Amino acid sequence: MEKTVIQPPRPGDWVWRVDWEGIVGEHGTPLYIYDLNTVKERARRVLLEFTYRPRRVLYSLKANPHPQVLGELLVMGLGAETVSLGEVKRALEVGFPPERISYTACCVSGEELLEVARLGVSINADSVGQARLLHGAGVETLGLRINPGVGSGHHRYTVTGGPGSKFGLLPQEALRLARDLGGGFASRVRRLHFHVGSGVWDPGVYLEALRKILPLLDVYVEVEEIDVGGGMAYDYLAGLREFDYSGLALGIGGVLEEAGLGGLRVTIEPGRYIVAPAGVLLARVTEVKRREDSLIVGVDTGMNHLIRPVLYGAMHRVVFPLHRGRLEWEERGLLVGNVCESGDILAHGVPLPPNLGVGDIVLILDTGAYGASMASSYNIRPPPREVVIRA
Ligand SMILES: Cc1ncc(COP(=O)(O)O)c(C=O)c1O
Repeated sequence: MEKTVIQPPRPGDWVWRVDWEGIVGEHGTPLYIYDLNTVKERARRVLLEFTYRPRRVLYSLKANPHPQVLGELLVMGLGAETVSLGEVKRALEVGFPPERISYTACCVSGEELLEVARLGVSINADSVGQARLLHGAGVETLGLRINPGVGSGHHRYTVTGGPGSKFGLLPQEALRLARDLGGGFASRVRRLHFHVGSGVWDPGVYLEALRKILPLLDVYVEVEEIDVGGGMAYDYLAGLREFDYSGLALGIGGVLEEAGLGGLRVTIEPGRYIVAPAGVLLARVTEVKRREDSLIVGVDTGMNHLIRPVLYGAMHRVVFPLHRGRLEWEERGLLVGNVCESGDILAHGVPLPPNLGVGDIVLILDTGAYGASMASSYNIRPPPREVVIRA
């Protein structure tokens, strides 16, 4: 894991507007807190900057399926991108109409697939088997998830396109399917989908993948929509750099125009981009151990509640909100959790206040995406509660 590079939140950031002591007093720790105003501001940015038309923006539930987060995005007009029957049911419960929900799942059972179809949700088949099953069951329209042979991501585990990936149909498999099942099948395919990975900065990667799948439109002539997936990156180190949505929109427009496909609808599926900076994992210091060469700070949470650092080597900024304005401290420590695993490290090189002690409040920033949604109860410690605010 690399050393954490700390760039404290900007003075106007929502984390400085919260009465953390009050929240801890009311709810205790560990706790995930989500700021709905930040969720809204991030989603608005996507809607404004992704200027391609016609378009759909589907929020990827797996990043954070909290009902109030979903409710906020529903009223803003976003749709829902789901990967399991559980997520489909959550989206329906919150009020997303089935036609605004998309489902793309790998290696799931036929029963699950048919249940999702029965609920009226549109499915992107992830394999030859799924496509055959849906066709055989008489599902009238569907999409195909294609592995475009191009992948990208912040860690090799988040690269989902390219050789060796378990996801999607290869273009040649999609062509063979059309040949084997004939026009009755091909005319049911209304959407081509790909998702290159998660944590992608370069819009060019999406364009490269798009170019790779366009030849399929010679066979799948009824396709009305291209879904280029999610994965738009977030700047965990400083919260300053932004993904270039307008560049992506212009690029897609250019590629489609060039191919004579200007009227196609384009869908994007951001998750992390919208919710990562809207969440904080709030914890309290439980131990301070001084070792010869390091200072180890233990907290009442761990890899069971936030697995990104150990799973992906991900970095999260850490601040001690009650010591605000004192970020020049020289001493740095290792932030560890309370799980019985040596790998239970939440952050390296965390700047520490000089008089840090047991009970001090710690904020692990930018944990609104893939924080609670990936949490487990390992060691029989329940996942943190989640509280929503408007900062
Ligand atoms: C098919 C699909 N769409 C969208 C996403 C959302 O990715 P992100 O949260 O990085 O935007 C994922 C994430 O794994 C995905 O698998």
